[in-house]
Amino acid sequence: MPIPLLSRRARPLSGTIRVPGDKSISHRALIFGGLAVGETTVEGLLEGEDVLATAAAMRAFGCSLERGGDAVWRVHGRGVSGLDEPADVIDCGNAGTGARLLMGVAAQQPVTTFFTGDASLRRRPMGRVMAPLSRMGVRFATREGGRLPGAVIGPELLLAIEYTLPVASAQVKSAVLLAGLAAAGETTVVEPKPTRDHTETMLRHFGAEVRVEAADGGGRRVTLVGQPELTGRRVVVPADPSSAAFPAVAALLVEGSEITLPGVGTNPLRFGLFETLREMGADITLANPRVEAGEPVADLIVRAGPLKAVEVPPERAPSMIDEFPILAVAAAMAEGTTVMRGLEELRVKESDRLGAMARGLAAAGVRVEVVGDDLIVHGGGGVAGGVTIGVDLDHRIAMAFLVLGMVSDEPMAIDDAAAIATSFPGFPELMNAAGAAIAPAAEAAA
Ligand code: S3P
Repeated sequence: MPIPLLSRRARPLSGTIRVPGDKSISHRALIFGGLAVGETTVEGLLEGEDVLATAAAMRAFGCSLERGGDAVWRVHGRGVSGLDEPADVIDCGNAGTGARLLMGVAAQQPVTTFFTGDASLRRRPMGRVMAPLSRMGVRFATREGGRLPGAVIGPELLLAIEYTLPVASAQVKSAVLLAGLAAAGETTVVEPKPTRDHTETMLRHFGAEVRVEAADGGGRRVTLVGQPELTGRRVVVPADPSSAAFPAVAALLVEGSEITLPGVGTNPLRFGLFETLREMGADITLANPRVEAGEPVADLIVRAGPLKAVEVPPERAPSMIDEFPILAVAAAMAEGTTVMRGLEELRVKESDRLGAMARGLAAAGVRVEVVGDDLIVHGGGGVAGGVTIGVDLDHRIAMAFLVLGMVSDEPMAIDDAAAIATSFPGFPELMNAAGAAIAPAAEAAA
């Protein structure tokens, strides 16, 4: 059953909003815990559908994962190359990260692992991980175009490779490094543009040897020494900056707002949105900066104020790749024309986000253009709103348009909020507690 929601003009947002744990780090914490010997504890895990699907997958591989009454997850791993053959198809739900990283994990054993996912995941390209893993000796059988459902058949002897990423993708980098754990010798991934480095941080945290060097043109060369013994560790998951982006932009746009977002990850390879918002004139303070389990975090204090348009350079795209939908909302309310360049990867996310934002903003009365892979938003002309957006199983499109409804003349509706539970369970309730007015669409219409 779809869950239609409607968002009306909000009161000034105030108070402390506790954003759930980082999705990227949560997937990795469970996976690394499963590949380690001994106990891993995970505090602050995102208990969203995407991560719970990864937990189920690691159980299917023979690991033990339990949530304690204290909300701490305890994982007992099986060691590198030590996983069982799953007895059934692994369903990754909506999670591209879960699917691609777990394909790297499946490659470690000479067994056959079947993967599937929801309608969104089944249309996303898996060829990008199949290409390097094939070179390592892994075989695949998928639907046409490298789409799931598909099977990963691990080889008896996995080969270490050097691989240059054709697209800036942390998921592909991570899949190769995860498979490389089982290969003798060194596996190297060269990335033309730096992408989120949570896998590298976690590899080191669990005891592997990783070298990172600068590569030509501002990229990086990441080398992993294969066949390490990984040891169970304590992982503290920061609040997700990609989720914090939604209340942060809402607070910037709704006049009179001031909110605090505690313990948000500030890893520079994830922080491009906040850098951009500050260039736009946003009042965002990073209080109490600290490092937890190798990841930098801070409390963000966000105050409303006028924004001005900027041009976002293409090199910044990987550090804010999931944040363009909400930046486009901020751009609609900013004075002037915001240009976001180099967004080709947005077309292969949970939905075609470039198309979804352009169509949705235009329907809400914003002047917007897509030129090649660039998104251009003409802000400052007001947002009429008063339309329903089809979110096509995409959590970030859903949340972006609910935030737009907080400042548009007429309310904004979304056809189905179900996907929000993949990354930000409780989003409408948390926002309402801070001053938003998000309600079931039917109720709101009555
Ligand atoms: C992620 C990497 C990004 C991002 C996704 C999470 C990760 O995808 O969009 O939400 O955890 O590695 P790509 O690596 O495909 O850009």
